Amino acid sequence: MTGELFGQDDPPQTARLALAEGALLLRGHAVASQDRLLAAIEQVALAAPFRNMVTPGGRAMSVAMTNCGCAGWVTDRRGYRYDPLDPETGRPWPEMPGCFADLATDAARDAGYPGFRPDACLINRYAPGARMGLHQDRDERDLAQPIVSVSLGLPAMFQFGGRRRNDPVAKYPLLHGDVLVWGGPSRLNHHGILTLRDGVHPKTGALRLNLTFRHAL
Ligand code: SIN
Ligand code: FE2
Repeated sequence: MTGELFGQDDPPQTARLALAEGALLLRGHAVASQDRLLAAIEQVALAAPFRNMVTPGGRAMSVAMTNCGCAGWVTDRRGYRYDPLDPETGRPWPEMPGCFADLATDAARDAGYPGFRPDACLINRYAPGARMGLHQDRDERDLAQPIVSVSLGLPAMFQFGGRRRNDPVAKYPLLHGDVLVWGGPSRLNHHGILTLRDGVHPKTGALRLNLTFRHAL
């Protein structure tokens, strides 16, 4: 295996960083629940396996995805949408694990969004070489609710721009255990993940996992 080794002995980072009005990065907020979260991701993926979905333009995404909660974000040749059923299995998505919902509600409250109750969680799995292009999250019905995003495993470079596609874009490393909350004036800001670099993380191996909580329905 090539690439950097990311150790568990790195000092926990607990800073809070405002990325924009309404957007707060809570460093290390998910470290305390890392083992529960990772075990729950495994359970979800047993019932709803990770898959590389196809964009409306017909390209397979480099990020593998699954979902849990009342609805899951899906893309295929027909477009982007939330679907209460997993199109691969025809069954409802797995229930959202309690430790997921608790973490999302807690982080949102901490960032100034009390009462956030996610009904959908998209789970993104990045192997080295995977990336997510700049986009807005706007398929959710209630845009007054924030997005809560949890990073686990290999570090990634997050791009955070503005509401317009050609607004300037800043870059922030997202590390294992970081939680990012954005809403209010930054709810429709463009964001993306640069190509994941090679590496090995003691908790996830050569992977980055991301949980993105939304109020979709
Ligand atoms: C997303 O925008 O859905 C994912 C962001 C991330 O992987 O951090
Ligand atoms: Fe997104």
